[in-house]
Amino acid sequence: MFLEHIEGECMAISSRAKKVTTHTLQEMKASGEKITMLTSYDYSLARLVDAAGIDVILVGDSASNVMAGNETTVPITLDHMIYHAQCVINGVDRALVVVDMPFGTYQGDSKTALDSAIRIMKESGGHAVKLEGGLEIVESVVRIQQAGIPVMGHLGLTPQSIYKFGTYSVRAKEQDEATKLLEDAKALEEAGCFSIVFEKIPAELAKKVSEQLTIPTIGIGAGVDCDGQVLVLHDMLGITKDFSPRFLRRYADLGETIDGAVKQYIEDVRSKQFPNADEGY
Ligand code: KIV
Repeated sequence: MFLEHIEGECMAISSRAKKVTTHTLQEMKASGEKITMLTSYDYSLARLVDAAGIDVILVGDSASNVMAGNETTVPITLDHMIYHAQCVINGVDRALVVVDMPFGTYQGDSKTALDSAIRIMKESGGHAVKLEGGLEIVESVVRIQQAGIPVMGHLGLTPQSIYKFGTYSVRAKEQDEATKLLEDAKALEEAGCFSIVFEKIPAELAKKVSEQLTIPTIGIGAGVDCDGQVLVLHDMLGITKDFSPRFLRRYADLGETIDGAVKQYIEDVRSKQFPNADEGY
């Protein structure tokens, strides 16, 4: 009895320690186990996020916002994304690392898309790429995944198209847009995507489409019935303060913590409380 218990514990630990692959995510969908995903852009935070047990790390082009301070994701380049992905890969042992293909590196034609994806894989060591869009990018998805590169899709609110839509409001509320989203999702699945992100769409629609797909769906502002959830790390940690959509739950207030620590340090240096006798040589 005792030995059986130990054996069971060891199997549970070793399956948790195993590297996450696209097959792991498929198995999780099949068994109803929710998939966890967060963004990261650098070595130190990716290391902490990975060690905490996250399944997927997204090197999101939201780096353009939270790392570079740009208003949109449009300006970030392929070189920038490769740099962030290299840093993340250096900190990750277990999670599947998905790297966003930035605006302008895949929309032109499928050969350009394949070249961009190959650069990401070879130069960063990432495990998969993510592209925004539906039917219009299917040819690129097919070509990239036929080259052996796993592809994640992204539908609903697609921030790279902000200048086309003009707002970051909820997508697919109207029937025609909802029908198009379902068609796009099915086309991406057929093209070989291993998973699709749904951003800011009605929960009912996300549930319906998730049930109709065999590949896992990951929601952000898309309700609880997606197969997994993703948030931007700096938002959920409370580092970014000026972004508060309804879907965002803040799990920490690191902004406050950092503010307090920096103010205390300034005070200690000015009042000669830092360093003390034990903190020198
Ligand atoms: O770039 C990003 O962080 C993303 C998530 C919001 C899904 O695409």
